[in-house]
Amino acid sequence: METLPEYTLAQLALRNGTDKPEIWVAFRGDIYDVTKSKLWRNGKHYEHWAGQDLTPELDDAPHSEAVFSKFDVIGKVKK
Ligand code: HEM
Repeated sequence: METLPEYTLAQLALRNGTDKPEIWVAFRGDIYDVTKSKLWRNGKHYEHWAGQDLTPELDDAPHSEAVFSKFDVIGKVKK
């Protein structure tokens, strides 16, 4: 089985839509690449910002985690 790369929270934070071209969001330890999403343009999604672990914030969303299904997990958050 292929092992995904691990990234620190600091590396994740750089993928916030401002500092680097990639836009990443972490959810339950998995890092998703949402760069292609129009809904995450510039790293902003309603009142939420990319480059972070947004697991606790999903409770504020009007949708379930099913929204992640069309995105690839590109890595894991390094503990
Ligand atoms: C105020 C809170 C939020 C609002 C109003 C909101 C609203 C929306 C809406 C309207 C969509 C379109 C698709 C759908 O409804 O199924 C969507 C997609 C999505 N949301 Fe949220 N959301 C919120 C919070 C969050 C949070 C906290 C996360 C991450 C943990 C998140 C992750 C996503 C993702 C990954 C998509 C898919 C984007 C795409 O398909 O291009 N959302 N959201």
